[in-house]
Amino acid sequence: MIKHPRRARRCQLSVPGSSEKMMNKAAGLTLDHVFLDLEDAVAPNAKPAARGMIVDALNDLEWLPKTVCVRINDVATEWCHDDIIEVVSGAGARLDTIMLTKAKSAADVMFVHLMLDQLEQKLKLTNRIGIECLIEEVEGMMNVEEIAACSDRLECLIFGMGDYSASQQIQIGSVGSSGSYPPDLWHYPRYKMTIACRANGIDPVDGPYANFRNPQAYTREAERANTLGMVGKWAIHPSQIELANQVFTPDPEALETARKQKSAYAEALEQGLGAINVDGVMVDAASIRIVQNLIDRADLVGM
Ligand code: COA
Ligand code: MG
Repeated sequence: MIKHPRRARRCQLSVPGSSEKMMNKAAGLTLDHVFLDLEDAVAPNAKPAARGMIVDALNDLEWLPKTVCVRINDVATEWCHDDIIEVVSGAGARLDTIMLTKAKSAADVMFVHLMLDQLEQKLKLTNRIGIECLIEEVEGMMNVEEIAACSDRLECLIFGMGDYSASQQIQIGSVGSSGSYPPDLWHYPRYKMTIACRANGIDPVDGPYANFRNPQAYTREAERANTLGMVGKWAIHPSQIELANQVFTPDPEALETARKQKSAYAEALEQGLGAINVDGVMVDAASIRIVQNLIDRADLVGM
């Protein structure tokens, strides 16, 4: 059912496409995913030039991050179609995915999908460019189920709490902070989006935390996202990469236990047993599904 490649997304680093310095730095970082931004990190009068800077960076630099993505302006802006045409025409072969912002409906995602269909044919690209999509408008959250199901290019949805807060008129301070709302302001949108992703075989990803001098709060937010089944979190600063990797990389001890339970269960099945005791823990078919999720995550990052 899933046609797109499986990619690790423990951390997605946001890099302003108007900053040659930061793109140079990002190219040399070892991490799962970077996205070069044409949207909010780039001032309107710098956007046209940033497209060319991104094309040059994609073509000229050796990129260590495993997945390289470009984030584009939303379909209601004057920039969206030129973002897609210029970046894909200039460096489509070097691009893994395009990230759409502020999607409100499946039609918004299909606009990008159809543009990519056309450009890939015209340019005779042999790679198929994937789509990533931010859920950061109240309409997008309402329509998240149809958005998650709409395109076989779609690889992940990201909960963008900054714009989402504005869209819903949530009263908080800085982006990503859940303030003092007990117990967790983001519980409902994260949970809702994660269900939609899982039901369609795509990855749920958690958005930014703006105060990069607060590693404890970042880690707390990442742990909440991880517990709900999300696969990773954004970094807006290099110092957040390691924090995300720590949370979203399977714990080696838990992984060892998972593999032990899996092999013990396989042996038990041969003897006709459906539920067994492994070191004081009941293991049955349901627990093996949970265990397999952890093993799959570990396999994806080569553990
Ligand atoms: N990607 C790549 N490199 C980055 C980076 C990023 N997102 N953020 C910071 N750096 C680099 C800096 O250039 C600096 O490099 P140097 O040591 O070679 O001089 C180093 O990391 C340390 O940066 P620091 O001085 O601590 O931060 P800053 O004041 O230069 O930048 C921000 C702070 C917030 C402006 C910057 O991190 C940023 O632009 N982040 C991304 C914003 C974004 O993309 N927003 C949209 C999505 S929410
Ligand atoms: Mg946004």
